[in-house]
Amino acid sequence: MNDSRSRDIEPAPDSDLLSQLEPDLLPKHLAVIMDGNGRWAELRGLPRIAGHQEGIKSVRELISLSLELGIKVLTIYAFSQENWNRPAQEITALMGLLEHYLSTERSSLVEKGVRFQTIGRVTALPPSALQWVRTTEQETAHLDKLILNVALSYGGRAELVDAAKELARAVQSGRLSPDQIDEQAMQRALYTHNLPDPDLLIRTSGETRISNFLLWQLAYTELYFTPTLWPDFRRRETLVALIEYQRRERRFGRVLSSVSS
Ligand code: IPE
Ligand code: IPE
Ligand code: MG
Repeated sequence: MNDSRSRDIEPAPDSDLLSQLEPDLLPKHLAVIMDGNGRWAELRGLPRIAGHQEGIKSVRELISLSLELGIKVLTIYAFSQENWNRPAQEITALMGLLEHYLSTERSSLVEKGVRFQTIGRVTALPPSALQWVRTTEQETAHLDKLILNVALSYGGRAELVDAAKELARAVQSGRLSPDQIDEQAMQRALYTHNLPDPDLLIRTSGETRISNFLLWQLAYTELYFTPTLWPDFRRRETLVALIEYQRRERRFGRVLSSVSS
C-alpha cells in the first residue's frame, strides 16, 4: 500500500487534546442531545435515515471515549415524546435502527461492562423494539463500568407528571405525608432516581434549546452548544467540549471560595 495514502486516512492524533484534560475534573454524568442527523443527510442528498445511521457511529465513539476517560454515566436523547409526531416512515425506520443497534451491539456492551438502561415511556415503543430494550437491560443489569442511559419516548414534562402521580399515590396510600414531599422525594420519583444530575449537557446542530429534556435534572448543569451536526460529532469534538467544560466555574449559587468546601 502507498505510504502517504495510508497516512491520509489515519485519524488526526488527539493526544494534544487529551493532555489538556484534568482527569479529576471530568463530568461524572454527561448528557447529550444528539441533533442534526436529518440535516446531515439532506446536505448530502440522502434520505434522513442515512443521517440516523451515520449518527450511530458517533454514539459508538462516545461510548468508547466515556469508557476510556472513566465517565460513569452517559445519557443520550435518542427519541423524544414529541418525535412521535414525525412521519410514520421515519418513526418506523428509527425503531428499526434501535432494534438493529441493540441486537447487534448487545454483546459488545456486555464485553465492555456497559449497563444499558432507559428513561421515558418506553412501553409506547413497538413490541419488538421494547423486547430488545428489555433483553438488553436484563443482560447488562449487573455491569457498572458505564451506565448508558438512553432517553426513548422521553419527555421532561411527562417525567414530572409521572413523578407527581407516584407521589400522589404514596400520599393516598399513607406511605408519605404531603409535608414529606421535598426535593429528595421528587428526585426519588423521577426516571433518573438512580443517577446523579448531569454535570455537562452537549447539544449538537446549532439549536440552542432544551427540547423537553431532563427539565428537573439540568438545574445546575453546564450547557454546551455546538453547530456541528451529530454524525460529525466525533472523538475530537467531544474532547474539545470536555476541555471547555473544565474551564467553566461552577458556582451553584454560591461565591467561588465556598464551592469546594
Ligand atoms: C436527531 O436528529 C435525532 C432524532 C431526533 C431522532 P434529527 O432527526 O432531529 O435531525 P435534524 O434536526 O432534522 O437535522
Ligand atoms: C431533540 O431533537 C430530540 C432528540 C435529539 C432525540 P429534535 O430535533 O426533536 O428537537 P427540536 O424539534 O429541534 O426541538
Ligand atoms: Mg432535530
